[in-house]
Amino acid sequence: MPVPLYGLTENNLPHLAAFRAAFAEIADSGQFILGPYVAEFEQQLAEYCGVEHAVGVGSGTDALMLSLMALGVGPGDEVITSPLSYVHTAGSIARLGATPVFCDINPRIYNVAIESLESCITDKTRAIVPVHLYGQMCKMDTIMDLARRRGIKVLEDGDQAVGAKLDGKMAGAFGDAGIFSFFPTKNLSAMGDAGAVVTSDGELAEKIRRMRVHGLEPGYRVKTLGGNFRIDAIQAKVLSIKLAHLDEQTARRRELADRYNRHLEDLQVSTPVEAEKRIHTYNHYTVRVRSGGRDPLMAHLDACGIESRVYYPVPLHLLDCFAHLGYQRGEFPVAEQAADEVLALPIFPEMTNAQQDEVVDAVRDYFRAE
Ligand SMILES: Cc1ncc(COP(=O)(O)O)c(C=O)c1O
Repeated sequence: MPVPLYGLTENNLPHLAAFRAAFAEIADSGQFILGPYVAEFEQQLAEYCGVEHAVGVGSGTDALMLSLMALGVGPGDEVITSPLSYVHTAGSIARLGATPVFCDINPRIYNVAIESLESCITDKTRAIVPVHLYGQMCKMDTIMDLARRRGIKVLEDGDQAVGAKLDGKMAGAFGDAGIFSFFPTKNLSAMGDAGAVVTSDGELAEKIRRMRVHGLEPGYRVKTLGGNFRIDAIQAKVLSIKLAHLDEQTARRRELADRYNRHLEDLQVSTPVEAEKRIHTYNHYTVRVRSGGRDPLMAHLDACGIESRVYYPVPLHLLDCFAHLGYQRGEFPVAEQAADEVLALPIFPEMTNAQQDEVVDAVRDYFRAE
């Protein structure tokens, strides 16, 4: 039986009746953009994250871009982030004319390494974008301490980590703002693109809210230019319906991760580490296979009908689009090695133990045959 990486249709099945009723209600209401459905979701998300405000936007990328714009990041500014991430982080920084600055990562949890981060800070550093990769939070208490002492802003990229915690505090609640994507593969997922910014800074929330609609003020006046970063009412309603089930779904992901750990720990793969005081949400269950074994394992899984994927095969500093920044291979050895060795195995809340056993058996067969 093939095993997919994600269960995108399964994830929505229990909610189809609620979706249909909600879609009919929205169709009748004519409230398609922003309006009460968006406001309701924003309030629920803010409450969930333990912050004062949430602003729904079109995607995770929009959330980051808009937040950087609202902080006034632009030419001459440096923004520090991780090289092991999706391109949207450094991409958004570069699109604003600022310079993405990369630091190396921690080899155990794949998030920014504090010492490397600190060594990148200059008097041009305007912001830090720590990425909570795979669903586990960065060391936000230390990062906030570093940043606050120097007047640097922090935007937490929680795209893969909604519901994750550090010392009981939610992802998104540490930084000046937190960024979320509700892309269909995320733990809280829309039926299309959607995202949000969360913050307890009322002034920043107000600015982001205005800039989400071009910066428009009453009378079609504009002081600070924004863009169209709006979320649809239908996506907001889908998210409201699903947010109520997020914690139970995270619990199932954690149970599956624990089961994988127990069944794979004696093999030559490194299973994910849940660092101190963290609640990992396992948006990805990422193992590490050393000595060139990752790609052959991936090919074996593929032959068994099991989907797996590499997040991310090319560290951002080596992407062609950032060649002008002048980074060379070898500058971030930990991130580069991780890019060669990490592999995400199937994990989704609706995954059955039988499906997971197939993955485990296929991985074990690979190492037995080696
Ligand atoms: C870490 C990370 N950040 C950002 C994004 C982008 O989010 P979106 O596709 O909603 O713009 C993704 C998702 O694909 C991601 O994995």
